[in-house]
Amino acid sequence: MELPQQGVALETLLDRMRERKQADADWRSARTFSLVYPAGEQVDAVVQAASHLYLHENALNPFRFPSIRQMEDDVVSMTLSLLHASPEAGGAMTSGGTESILLGVKTARDRARAERGVERASLLVPHSAHPAFAKAAQVLDMDLVQIPLDTDHRADVKAARRLIDERTVLIVGSAPNYPFGVADPIPDLAALAAERGLSFHTDACLGGFLLPFYERLGAPVPPFDFRVEGVTTISSDVHKYGYSIKGASVIAHRDSSTLRNHQLFLYEDWPGGIYGSFAMAGARPAAPIAAAWAVLQCLGDEGYTKLAGVVRETTRRLREGIEAIPELRVWGDPVMSVMAFGSEQLDIAAVGDGMDERGWHLDRQTGPDALHLMISPAHADVVDTFLTDLREAVDGRGDSRGTEARYSS
Ligand SMILES: Cc1ncc(COP(=O)(O)O)c(C=O)c1O
Repeated sequence: MELPQQGVALETLLDRMRERKQADADWRSARTFSLVYPAGEQVDAVVQAASHLYLHENALNPFRFPSIRQMEDDVVSMTLSLLHASPEAGGAMTSGGTESILLGVKTARDRARAERGVERASLLVPHSAHPAFAKAAQVLDMDLVQIPLDTDHRADVKAARRLIDERTVLIVGSAPNYPFGVADPIPDLAALAAERGLSFHTDACLGGFLLPFYERLGAPVPPFDFRVEGVTTISSDVHKYGYSIKGASVIAHRDSSTLRNHQLFLYEDWPGGIYGSFAMAGARPAAPIAAAWAVLQCLGDEGYTKLAGVVRETTRRLREGIEAIPELRVWGDPVMSVMAFGSEQLDIAAVGDGMDERGWHLDRQTGPDALHLMISPAHADVVDTFLTDLREAVDGRGDSRGTEARYSS
């Protein structure tokens, strides 16, 4: 496309956008299972109004826009408190899980460089860790070492112990991981890190705004936050189960001195004056900060606990329904609302195709082959239809290939 010679009327543009949008996933009808976390009209209205108020401001300079700085501080404090941080803790908002992870990895690298003189650093991450860690390793010129998983799809602690060497600066665990929704043995992994003076990062991008409320509901929650000794940083995404718009995550530090010493970028060797930034980006949108602040305040502890109750019950019904279909199996023991299911008899990708035909959008996985579910409050209304369609897709599809063939890759 070239820049039009003459401007096009807004109404025409909106019509075009609406037409193009027809091809996009219809997440409002709860037929998709990731990327968007629909939590209902009230939450939608809050994030829309709050972000609209801050569409043009720039969060780069906290002195020019003190209200943005105040909101960012508030979001960080609320998150730290959910993660049971002590008063020495600190944190910053970022554009999302990937940026929070990148900054957590950078902090560990620079800390090890300063304290132990490690030049070419490596990080130790479970095989199931999000690709953001591999991206961070690439960007920060570090080596990524993968911890194999045990049979329940959690990081194998014994293997992790063997993989540590003098270049290791960081160990990682997920609460929970994306592919299976299971939590790594974070107390054991963090203890390994603490024993050797290494940093430990809990990736709670998914769990940070859901597991605390599962705990309020009395659900069994694996230890993952700052109550676990040895955890030094945590990533927790407001734009996932915090239900805000994209562009909002928190990187939390057990000790704010690592935030100041190893995350903060300060520069004055140019004519433009002193330049400081905690994030990777320079100019930063204020709208996601405003929306995150507003949705956290608007829902409050009570609202999040209620939504967590809906997600938990919906997940229970879906999991039981899937497990009641004899050909299907949920892989591992998911701790909250994310799971993968497959089959030892059927071609699960063909079942996925059958679900596509019935208007559902399920992500495919390999190793083991699976369909992926990420449950939001909006899915409460579609459980029965989903399970009926799944039963039909299983009946109509799935040639019998056998376990051996499935695992052979
Ligand atoms: C466990 C986990 N960590 C990190 C990320 C990356 O987050 P983002 O896509 O916001 O960068 C995701 C995204 O789904 C995730 O599930």
